[in-house]
Amino acid sequence: MEFKNELKKYQNLIEDELKKYIRKEICPERKLNESMEYSLISGGKRLRPILILAIYKLFNDDDKICKPYCVAIEMVHNFSLIHDDLPAIDNDDLRHGKLTNHKMFNESTAILAGDALLNNAYIIISEDLKNTTDKEELQLKMRVFNEFTIAVDRMIAGEYVDTEFEGKPISSDYLEYMHKNKTGALLKLCVRMGAILGKADEQNLEKLTQYAEKIGLAFQIKDDILSEEGNQLITGKPVGNDRKKNKCTYVTKYGLDEAKKILDKIIKEAIDIVEDYGEKGEFLKQLAIYIKERNK
Ligand code: IPE
Ligand code: IPE
Ligand code: MG
Ligand code: MG
Repeated sequence: MEFKNELKKYQNLIEDELKKYIRKEICPERKLNESMEYSLISGGKRLRPILILAIYKLFNDDDKICKPYCVAIEMVHNFSLIHDDLPAIDNDDLRHGKLTNHKMFNESTAILAGDALLNNAYIIISEDLKNTTDKEELQLKMRVFNEFTIAVDRMIAGEYVDTEFEGKPISSDYLEYMHKNKTGALLKLCVRMGAILGKADEQNLEKLTQYAEKIGLAFQIKDDILSEEGNQLITGKPVGNDRKKNKCTYVTKYGLDEAKKILDKIIKEAIDIVEDYGEKGEFLKQLAIYIKERNK
C-alpha cells in the first residue's frame, strides 16, 4: 500500500478509537470534559499510536491488544502539549491551527484538563490490566505499563530542562539530553510498546529501540526547524517563537543549515537499522523519511 494511504488508515483507526473515550454527560465538570476533548480530538498527526501499531505489525496482525495503549499515549501526549503551551512554559496561543487550550478555556481549566488526560491514560491502562486473565499477556502488559510511567517521567524531565535553559547557553550534550527526553522518550516508548506487545525477542527489541532513539531525536530537530522556517498555516502553531523566546534548539545552537545536516544524518542511520527488515520494514523506513520531510 502507498505510504500516505497507510498513514491515513492508521490515523482513521486511531480517531475512531479516541472518540470512544469522549464523555458527553451533563455534569458539574462538563467544561473540563469539553476542554479535554478540545485538545484530544484536534487534528494531531497521531504519530505515537501509529508507531505502536506499525511496530506491532512486524510481529503480529491482530492489533486489538494495542488499542488501549494507543489511546493512553495520545492522552499523555495531549497533556504534554496543553501544559507546554501554558503561559508558565511556552506561552503559545496557537496549536493545530486553533487557540491553545488555556486561550480557548482558561488557565485553570487547561491545567486540570492536562492533569485529567494524564490520569485517564493510567485509568485506561489499569482497566486493561484488570481485565487481562492470561498470565503471559499480563506479564507483557505489566512491563509496558512500567515503561510507560518511566517515559512520562523522562518527558517531564526534558520539559523541565527546556524551561531551565530558556535564555541561557546550553552545551550540546545537554541539548541532546533535553530533546531525547522531552520528545524522544514518548516516541521510544511507543516503539518498545509495539515490540513488547508483539512478543519481539530481546534482539529485535534492542534493534528497534535504536531506530526509536534516532527518530525521537530527529523528530524534535525537525520541530526546531519548522519553528524557524515552517508555514504557520500548515504547522498550525506559531513560527519564529523559539527564537523570540531564546529557546535552546538545534537551530539556535547550530544554525539552520547545520541542523538540517544533523537531521539528515540521523534519519539515514534510522533507515539503515530498519533496512534489515526488508519489505516488512518499508513502512518504518518511509516513516523516518516522513519525519524528515514533513511540513507539519
Ligand atoms: C509536537 O508533537 C510536540 C513535540 C514533541 C515536538 P507532534 O508534532 O507529534 O504533535 P501533533 O501531531 O500535533 O499531535
Ligand atoms: C515539545 O515541546 C515537547 C513536549 C511538548 C513534551 P516544544 O515546545 O518544542 O513543541 P511545540 O513546538 O510547542 O509543539
Ligand atoms: Mg516547549
Ligand atoms: Mg512548545
